[in-house]
Amino acid sequence: MKTKLVFTFIVGMLLTQVTYANDHKVGQQLFQASCASCHGTAGGMDMNKRVAPPIVAVRMHYISTYADKDSFVMAVADWVENRDADNSMMRGAIRRFGLMPAVKVTRNEAEKIAAYIYDGDIEKPEGFQQHFEERHGKKKNR
Ligand code: HEC
Repeated sequence: MKTKLVFTFIVGMLLTQVTYANDHKVGQQLFQASCASCHGTAGGMDMNKRVAPPIVAVRMHYISTYADKDSFVMAVADWVENRDADNSMMRGAIRRFGLMPAVKVTRNEAEKIAAYIYDGDIEKPEGFQQHFEERHGKKKNR
């Protein structure tokens, strides 16, 4: 009886990890296909060479208001669905780069991408940490 429980528990743990790895991969691929051309590492931290803020900066702005995963995913997917400057969390970025153009992804895809961004295993342009600390002080980079 006990062995069976332990076994079920272990299989459950493994399945959870496999599902996480899978979702992460799907989110990452969707991000690469639909968002990375603007939010990727190209241009580094030189805002004159970039067309949009790096995704790690977007993540920071959103996570400071939407700390839990569900509300973060909703907020990012809502933005992708309807880019309304009135709801912007990054007005400085709109002034610098102009409003984000429409991107063709389904709601479901946008949510997968948002979850991937939230989980935080994302690319940072070189020098991001330094830039962040200079501008925002040595806060914990989460
Ligand atoms: C063609 C370039 C481009 C693509 C592709 C793109 N973005 Fe953006 N995005 C921008 C620009 C420019 C901004 C900064 C201006 C703004 O906030 O509207 C931005 C801002 C954002 C913001 C912050 C919005 C705010 O103002 O609060 C989020 C969230 C975001 N992008 C998510 C995504 C996601 C997710 C994808 C992929 C599905 C994506 N973007 C694809 C150009 C792009």
